[in-house]
Amino acid sequence: CGIVGYIGERDTQAVLIEGLKKLEYRGYDSAGIAVFTDAGLKISKSIGRLANLESKLEGAPLVGSAGIGHTRWATHGKPSDVNSHPHTDHSQKFSVVHNGIVENYLDLKEELISQGYEFVSETDTEVISHLVAREYQGDIVKAVQKAITYMRGAFALGVLTEYEPNKLVAVRQASPLIIGIGEGENFIGSDIPAILNYTRKVYILNDGEMAVLTKDSVELMTIEGNFISREMTNVEWDAVTAEKGGFDHFMLKEIYEQPKAYRDTMRGRIDESGSKVIFPELNLTEEKIRSINNIHIVACGTAYHAGLVGGTAIERLVRIPVAFDVASEYRYRSPLITPETLVIVVSQSGETADTLAALREAHANGAHVLAITNVVGSSIARDADDVIATLAGPEIAVASTKAYTSQLIAFYLFGLYLAEVRGTQTAEEISHIIAAMQSLPEQVEAMLENTDAIKAYAKHISNHNNLFFIGRGVDYAVALEGSLKLKEISYIHSEAYAAGELKHGTLALIEDGIPVIALATQEALLEKTVSNIKEVKARGAEVMALSHEEHVSSLLKSVDQAFAIPKTLPLLTPALSVVPLQLLAYYASLARGNDVDKPRNLAKSVTVE
Ligand code: G6P
Repeated sequence: CGIVGYIGERDTQAVLIEGLKKLEYRGYDSAGIAVFTDAGLKISKSIGRLANLESKLEGAPLVGSAGIGHTRWATHGKPSDVNSHPHTDHSQKFSVVHNGIVENYLDLKEELISQGYEFVSETDTEVISHLVAREYQGDIVKAVQKAITYMRGAFALGVLTEYEPNKLVAVRQASPLIIGIGEGENFIGSDIPAILNYTRKVYILNDGEMAVLTKDSVELMTIEGNFISREMTNVEWDAVTAEKGGFDHFMLKEIYEQPKAYRDTMRGRIDESGSKVIFPELNLTEEKIRSINNIHIVACGTAYHAGLVGGTAIERLVRIPVAFDVASEYRYRSPLITPETLVIVVSQSGETADTLAALREAHANGAHVLAITNVVGSSIARDADDVIATLAGPEIAVASTKAYTSQLIAFYLFGLYLAEVRGTQTAEEISHIIAAMQSLPEQVEAMLENTDAIKAYAKHISNHNNLFFIGRGVDYAVALEGSLKLKEISYIHSEAYAAGELKHGTLALIEDGIPVIALATQEALLEKTVSNIKEVKARGAEVMALSHEEHVSSLLKSVDQAFAIPKTLPLLTPALSVVPLQLLAYYASLARGNDVDKPRNLAKSVTVE
């Protein structure tokens, strides 16, 4: 989602709309603004693209001297007019825009309803407007501070109240927010592009900080109310770079957004003690979960590869048979679907025609369909019986990165949830896996800190025209994704093989100097994989191995190069091992001078069969 806010003498509506236009890539399910007008605090909002809001405002402009705006990427509550931001309370004196997730919103909502507050939307944000209204005793800053003490989760907020029309309050808690400084005017934005037309001077808020803006002043403080001083930052980026968060391409930005995507996808889905997965959004009853006797996972492309890892995890954790299909094949092989089949469709966009058709086939045969998707308002999300939203945020680059890894996280969570209900894992085992999952974001951050070695290797392979990936178990599933990533953006021909299968034909293609990337993260299979590495080495291949630090020195006896990924549980390694492969594809594509974000012949979302 995107947030913009303004206080000053300009045409507020125009400033907000301009800002939202620059943020539309952050979400386009709906948009809205709230402005102080002569008639009080007025809100206008509309489902769909920003253009819908613009035409609405043409007939009924909001004229005033301060306001907040929002462009939404739906997470809690489907895209609709009422679920759009800004939200208000029932006195309509307060108005809130919000990015992020209030984890405990259901509990807070229940409490507020029992106190007589009426809700009109399904969003977690509406809880904030009621909380602020409830806590207001003549000082909006105090009311916001008090409201926050009840909220758990990630939020960036912009808050206005009709009682104090000269103030705009902004809060940052684990969701970015910046303050733009002008002369006789000030701004807030979730991202720099929102304000770049007006100012280059910004304060960057840290987590747990807030700002109180008037047209002539900005006060910074902690959310506890201690004043702080901050040096102003001068933004040097041009508009195009700003949109990419300072990265050269959306793909690289999205690779670096993965730790956040992991955290957001886990947020609110693990209970406070860290011992249990919770899915308040699912309709799937415990009784239904117990009656499932097989699972089909159906998807296309990268989403299918996530399904391979996810299904393997479910099968291991829950001991239910899982079958995998690419969506374009599913319908045509007359799959055995019964009402006891759970069909899981996976789709970043939620619009892929083949996946949608597979969902319909599953429904026609009485199966319960769960969609794992990044777009809550998509066709697939609307048609499925249940939706697990991956909270990766909009993905722009054609080559999928953060959507894939968020799908893995969603699968792990769902697997643990099934295991708990069906009693196939002990509480200790579940807590152990959850704890390992909670370390993943930091582990990815560590990998992204130093990428020099992978850059150099990418440059090297960019001179080759053929390449192989090998691996066993989930390493094979990741090999398929690494290979697809490389193909689609570098145009280097590459194939991924189950390491043990290579000798049944493909080994004939191994000749002197051919790069082979061997994934060897699975301890139990390490020796077997090393045997396969030796097979290709003996035919002249040049092997790069990906494993854990502790195996690197022994692996180096059989390979030419080795990279280490941080240590995690065998089942979770794909959430780490894919990251260097994404970087490899990115830098190889870059070295070949390709259009990284828009590879030839490919589309982000394929809506034809
Ligand atoms: C297209 C994209 C792929 C994607 C696939 C499935 O081919 O280029 O990156 O994996 O569609 O898309 P979905 O939106 O269903 O995940």
